[in-house]
Amino acid sequence: MSKVVKLRDLYIDFFVSKGHVQIPSSPVVPENDPSVLFNTAGMQPLIPYLKGEKHPLGTRLCDYQKCIRTNDLDEVGDKTHHTFFEMLGNWSLGDYFKKESITWSYEFLTDVLKINPDRLAVTVFRGNDLVDADKYSAKLWESLGISKDHIAYMDESNNWWPNMELTGPCGPDTEIFYYRTDGDVPKVFNPEDDNWVEIWNNVFMEYMHNPDNTFSQLPRKNVDTGMGLERVQAVLEGVDDNYKSSIWTNIIKKIEDVSNKNYVGNEKSMRIIADHMRTAVFISADYASIKPSNTDQGYILRRLIRRAIRHAKKLEIDINSDFESVIALAIIDEYKKYYKELEENKDVVLTVLRDEKVKFNRTLEKGLREFEKATRNLEGNMIDATVAFRLYDTYGFPIELTEELAKDNNLEVDVEGFKERFKKHQELSRTASAGKFKGGLASSGEVETKYHTATHLLNAALKVVVSPDCHQKGSNITAERMRFDFSCDHKLTTEEKEQVENLVNKWINEELVVTKEEMPKQKAVEIGAEHEFIDKYPDIVNVYKIGDVSMEICGGPHVKNTKELGHFKIKKEEASSAGVRRIKAVLE
Ligand code: ALA
Repeated sequence: MSKVVKLRDLYIDFFVSKGHVQIPSSPVVPENDPSVLFNTAGMQPLIPYLKGEKHPLGTRLCDYQKCIRTNDLDEVGDKTHHTFFEMLGNWSLGDYFKKESITWSYEFLTDVLKINPDRLAVTVFRGNDLVDADKYSAKLWESLGISKDHIAYMDESNNWWPNMELTGPCGPDTEIFYYRTDGDVPKVFNPEDDNWVEIWNNVFMEYMHNPDNTFSQLPRKNVDTGMGLERVQAVLEGVDDNYKSSIWTNIIKKIEDVSNKNYVGNEKSMRIIADHMRTAVFISADYASIKPSNTDQGYILRRLIRRAIRHAKKLEIDINSDFESVIALAIIDEYKKYYKELEENKDVVLTVLRDEKVKFNRTLEKGLREFEKATRNLEGNMIDATVAFRLYDTYGFPIELTEELAKDNNLEVDVEGFKERFKKHQELSRTASAGKFKGGLASSGEVETKYHTATHLLNAALKVVVSPDCHQKGSNITAERMRFDFSCDHKLTTEEKEQVENLVNKWINEELVVTKEEMPKQKAVEIGAEHEFIDKYPDIVNVYKIGDVSMEICGGPHVKNTKELGHFKIKKEEASSAGVRRIKAVLE
C-alpha cells in the first residue's frame, strides 16, 4: 500500500497560516448562477467577489470546493477521469499578487509536501496583443530555485484562464507540473510529455472579458488558484491510477466485496461504479434536493446511477441486493468529516439511489434483450433512431447508455435521428400539458409562483398559531397543490389547522405587498430572515418580505401582492418523518 498524504488538511492549514480564512464549500448546484448546472471550479461561487464585490470574510480566502464536470462523463473508466472532484484553492481579492502567490506555492510544495524542486516545472504566459509576456513570474520561479530549463513560455491556449473566448473575470496564469515517474528528471521540461502532470494553476486575474468582447481592467487584481485534489493525491502517493490513491481504498474494497471480484481485471466497470456512485451521492445529498429526472441536473443524476447499475450488472452484482447502499455508505464514511450534509442527508441519498435502481431494474433486463434483438440481424453497423428512442422511452435507457452499449458491440447509433424524435416527443407532451390547463389556469408558471408565496405565508402562520419552533423542512410545488414539511412535535389539532388556514387567508385579504432585497447572507441572518440550514445558501441571498408578516431567504419567484393568491385551503396534515409534519394545501 502506498503512503497516505493528508493533502486537504495540509493545504488548508498552510494557507490559514498565511492569513487566509477558510470558507465552506458551496453546494454543487450553484444557487445564483443559472449558466451552469454544477460548480465546475473553486472560483465559481466567488465570481461576484472576483468582479469587485466585498467579501464578508476578507481578502484572503481558501477552501476545498465540491466540483462536478460532466463533459467527459463517458470517458470515466480510465485511470484519470472523474465526474466529481474537489478543488483546493486560495484567493486574493485585491490583496497579494504574483510574488506572494508564487512564493507560497513553492513553499507549500517543497517545505510542506517535501517535493524535490528538481521534479517541478512551470509554464508562464508568453504574451499577446493584450498582455505582455509574464517575465516577472518566470524570474520569480527562477529565484526560488526552478531551473530556467524547467520554465516554458506558452500561448493563451495554455496560459490564460478560463480561455480567451469565455466572458467573465480572467487573466494569464502559471501552471505547476510534477514529474511523476521514478526515472531521471529530464533536463529540459517538455509540457507534452505525459510524465509531467499539472498539479496547480495560479491565475492572475486582472481582466474582465465583457459580453461586447472588450477586455477591461477589474477594479482590483486578484489571484485565483486551483489544485485538483484527486490527481495530486495520486501523484503524491506514487500511484499512476487515480483510483489507487487512499481516497478510493475503502470504496473500491466495497465494490470488490459486493461483486466478489478483484479490482485487477475489472478496473473499468469498478471505476465507473466508484466514480458515478460518488457523484450521485454528492448530488443527492446537496441542499438543492435534486432527484433523478429527464432534465438538467436530474438527468445527469439519472445517467450516473443508471450507468453505474449497468456496470454493476456487468460485474454480476446481484442488483436486487442492497449493493448500492453498501457502496454509498462507504462513500459517505470517506467524506462525512468534510461534508456534513452527507451524514445529515444520508437517508435521502440511500432512498434516491434505491428508488432509481428499482425503477431502472424493472426495465433493464427487457431493454437489454430488446437491444440484442434489434442488433442481432442488423444490416450495417448503425442502430436506427426508432430503436434508440424505444430504448429511451419504454425502457428508460439514456441515449448515452445506448451509445455505450453500441460501442461495446462495435456499432453506432443514429444520435441525430434520436434527437429529432426526442424533440418531436417533447413538443407533443408540451401541447398535451398546455391542454390540461386550458380554460382553467393562465399558465403553470404563474400558478406555481402563487404556491411559492403561499408557502411563506403558511410558514409564518404556523409560527404564530402552533409554535415559534416550526421551521420549514422541505417543500414541493406543482401546478395542482403545494406540499410543505415543517418541524413540529405533534399532530395538528382541528383548531390549529383552522386557525392556520384563517390566518393565511386573512393575510391574503389584507393585500400585503411582496418585496425582494438582495443582501449578504450574514446580514439576512442578523435581521432574522427565516431560512433552512444556512450553509446551503450562496454568500449573497434574496430576502423576500411579505408585508411585515414574513421575511425569508428564498430564490423566488413570488407574486407581487398576496391578493393574487385566492383562497388557501389545507387538504391534509400528516406525519412526514420523526419530528416533521407535512401539510398539503391548495389555492382555490
Ligand atoms: N480557476 C482555475 C482553474 O480551475 C484556478 O484551473
